[in-house]
Amino acid sequence: MSHHITEAANASYSYPDGTVGIKNISFKITHGESVALVGANGAGKSTLLLHLNGYLSPAKGEIKIGDFPITSKNLKDVRKTVGMVFQYPDDQLFMPTVLEDVAFGPLNLGLSDEQALKKAIDALKIVGAEHLSDRPPYKLSGGEKRSAAIAAVLAMSPNILVMDEPASNLDPGSRRRLINLLKTFKHTKIIATHDLDMALELCERTIILCKGEIKADGETVKLFKDDNLINQSGLEKPLSMQGCPICGKKPCP
Ligand SMILES: Nc1ncnc2c1ncn2[C@@H]1O[C@H](COP(=O)(O)OP(=O)(O)OP(=O)(O)O)[C@@H](O)[C@H]1O
Ligand SMILES: [Mg+2]
Repeated sequence: MSHHITEAANASYSYPDGTVGIKNISFKITHGESVALVGANGAGKSTLLLHLNGYLSPAKGEIKIGDFPITSKNLKDVRKTVGMVFQYPDDQLFMPTVLEDVAFGPLNLGLSDEQALKKAIDALKIVGAEHLSDRPPYKLSGGEKRSAAIAAVLAMSPNILVMDEPASNLDPGSRRRLINLLKTFKHTKIIATHDLDMALELCERTIILCKGEIKADGETVKLFKDDNLINQSGLEKPLSMQGCPICGKKPCP
């Protein structure tokens, strides 16, 4: 898993009730790339991300992390490499306290209690959530849960960071802190988001999903400038690419 390449080759998945999740998805993301995954509700973003660390397996095609397709045999290694922040933090937080939750991953990786605790405290500090350490996760606000879930993944020092709507529920200050933090993360980032301003700021490349299929894959700025593409995909241009609502000044062409 040395190269940390993330690759999908004609991957398709339908849920047991027959609903199409993703269809014929192919891409290659090289180590260090920042890629935004955008698309309307139900476009398949979460379904696709759940394939990247083996929570779902494609019915057709394959998903590779490094040089190998994900299998039950290498799942543990894949999950060490790919850190996943789920769309709903309740799917991720299950220990009695936030600190135990954030330390759970490092302990699972074989670190000593002391090392795991240090990693957990450092990660909580990074997301500004150290004060939540002793709180039960289920009693936190939506944004607090999100910060704890992000800390839990950062504590594992993944080489590929996969985040599903990481900024949703965050207050503007926490959102800004997250963006600044993600800018310092030099490994691969794959971020599903409806926050197109965040995508523009963080990701040089964007994949647009529509009804489970890739509608576009390219340079973020170029795709976001394409009015037809944006409208047809159920999206709206980032605010930073729209004119000023007060003085009417147009943004750069
Ligand atoms: N457990 C499930 N069983 C059946 N269908 C599902 C299930 N989960 C998702 N789907 C369907 O799969 C499709 C893709 O859903 P997915 O959650 O991947 O979309 P999304 O792009 O993440 O949307 P959102 O922006 O709302 O998070 C949708 O049609 C959805 O209704
Ligand atoms: Mg989703």
